[in-house]
Amino acid sequence: MTQFLLVTDLDNTLVGDLDALKKLNDLLITQRQQYGAKIVYSTGRSLVSYQYLRRSQPLLQPDALITSVGTEIYDEQTREPDPVWAQQLQVGWDRDLVVATAAHFSDLMPQPESEQGRFKVSYYVTEEAAAAVIPQLESLLKARQVAAQLIYSGGQDLDILPEQADKGTAMVFLRQRLNFSPEQTVACGDSGNDLAFFRTGEERGIIVGNARPELLQWHNAHPSANRYLARAACAGGIMEGLQHFGFV
Ligand code: GLC
Ligand code: MG
Repeated sequence: MTQFLLVTDLDNTLVGDLDALKKLNDLLITQRQQYGAKIVYSTGRSLVSYQYLRRSQPLLQPDALITSVGTEIYDEQTREPDPVWAQQLQVGWDRDLVVATAAHFSDLMPQPESEQGRFKVSYYVTEEAAAAVIPQLESLLKARQVAAQLIYSGGQDLDILPEQADKGTAMVFLRQRLNFSPEQTVACGDSGNDLAFFRTGEERGIIVGNARPELLQWHNAHPSANRYLARAACAGGIMEGLQHFGFV
């Protein structure tokens, strides 16, 4: 038993197996009360879309919230994205130029307006088209000197974000603010946009048993004792990983 910071993705990681989620919630409530554990949700969803999910799932109130694939950070009280984080993401980012550049690619279908953000431009693109489009779009953005990164998840979602922003960098920002060491921090995920959690290498990582091939391939190619691939799916996999690392 030790104090730890849990950073977890929502869809198909924390959320997906209702019974396992309820059991994990019970455990986390105790860990919070007795050992000062803290909980951060980190989702690809926008704030509005997160609130929608919250209405249908028994989610605990997190200590902080990261939305829009690491581009927005909220604490318990505020409803405005963290201005310090926003300021850092502005450098080298030109949203209009990203949109204009992406418009050259007819395979990119814009996601709904609700999922577009100040620092997030998102499309749907098939796996077949993505293989060709992503490198081309990447080099075109580079030629236009936009400091952007492309993240492909779930075999359908393409997010274009500032170079400084992803789930990994947002986790480190919050970890430092909340005063946790990398060894006390554990991040959990299932798909492409969660890879950034694990790339930092220092924090502990849990990949749930139902993870997507894009994440499993990377995991197999980059073995690390700091990362645990669970057998169980969703919240059951998180529980298994917390036990593996001795956090519970
Ligand atoms: C969520 C978001 C979507 C994003 C995807 C992958 O589904 O709603 O905009 O593309 O996560 O990051
Ligand atoms: Mg997910």
